[in-house]
Amino acid sequence: MLTTEQFDRTRRLALSLAGIELVERHRELLDRRGRRRGILDGAGLDSLLDAAEEGEPTARQQLLCLLTTKFTGFFRHPRHFDLAAKRALRAAQCRGQARLWSAAAATGEEPYSLAMALMELFQSDHPPASILATDIDVEALAVGQQGEYGEAALRALDPERRARFFSWDPRVEGSRERGVYAASAREQNDSFDGDRTPPLPCEMKRRERRAPRLAARGTAASTASSTAAFPFRETRVARPWSIVPAARRLVQFRPLNLAGAGWAIAGPFDVIFCRNVLMYLESYHRGTVLERMASLLAPDGMLVLDPTEHPGKAGHLFTAGADGVYSPRRASFPERIP
Ligand SMILES: C[S@@+](CC[C@H](N)C(=O)[O-])C[C@H]1O[C@@H](n2cnc3c(N)ncnc32)[C@H](O)[C@@H]1O
Repeated sequence: MLTTEQFDRTRRLALSLAGIELVERHRELLDRRGRRRGILDGAGLDSLLDAAEEGEPTARQQLLCLLTTKFTGFFRHPRHFDLAAKRALRAAQCRGQARLWSAAAATGEEPYSLAMALMELFQSDHPPASILATDIDVEALAVGQQGEYGEAALRALDPERRARFFSWDPRVEGSRERGVYAASAREQNDSFDGDRTPPLPCEMKRRERRAPRLAARGTAASTASSTAAFPFRETRVARPWSIVPAARRLVQFRPLNLAGAGWAIAGPFDVIFCRNVLMYLESYHRGTVLERMASLLAPDGMLVLDPTEHPGKAGHLFTAGADGVYSPRRASFPERIP
């Protein structure tokens, strides 16, 4: 188990690097996660914390990988994607182009779901729209950038969407049956505050031992791990399903720390998805993130949170709709979506 000193150091770094608030109940979970990823063996954590405190970039990245929960999925809360696509259609009709932002994009399922929803509603492979996908975790972004997924990630998709938006590489042998991207029951429980994470490249060692031949694709992020100064477990993940180039072209992946001092991002956005990330941030950062997002939304734009989340102290900036959908309060526009 993490000692009190180790946990306090981790807690300070989580807050200063990512605005993430850790409380006592996270200690055991961090311990489990760290062991699974091979960094709490021996003096691993102390040297990781030393280096992260000294500002060593690889150590900081690996600590962030340990601290963040990446659970996501295609079309999580499907209604959000219908509403976002309709809002984008209206923006494109008014201004010629729609801009969307997935602000905690994790491994890309959320921004690619937006891309699919746009292509369906616009009935075009080239909708006049762009999707910015940002996250603090560059390993997760690397997975999204590759746009390759395992069988389990595609389970939420109906056959029509699979056929239209993904191609399958039969050379990635066996992966279809084994579902290498699926989290085990234990891993699914292994997350903060009820959100759940599928395994990332840095935590796939055990699975690799079980299925050593599933190694053909999706290894960019694991290569980064292998060159790291800190011994994260080496990874190779089979991801036989590739998102089609037309959807990939709509999405631009970029690292962004929501708790960072400045965001190199210009508005306005017609749609901002900020789902399942505020719950990890300390109260001051939650408020600041939402204030900044309010200022980056178009007057008729829409902010989307998970339906269980709430803008809290920044509530005065938004008008609440149903299911976690908010409009900037200065806006006045017809409620009917064309
Ligand atoms: C649970 S996932 C949410 C994924 C997706 N939005 C969804 O709802 O399916 C949370 C994501 O927030 C990211 N995250 C945590 N702290 C962050 C921060 N300070 N800045 C940007 N992203 C952050 C994590 O890396 C992780 O990918």
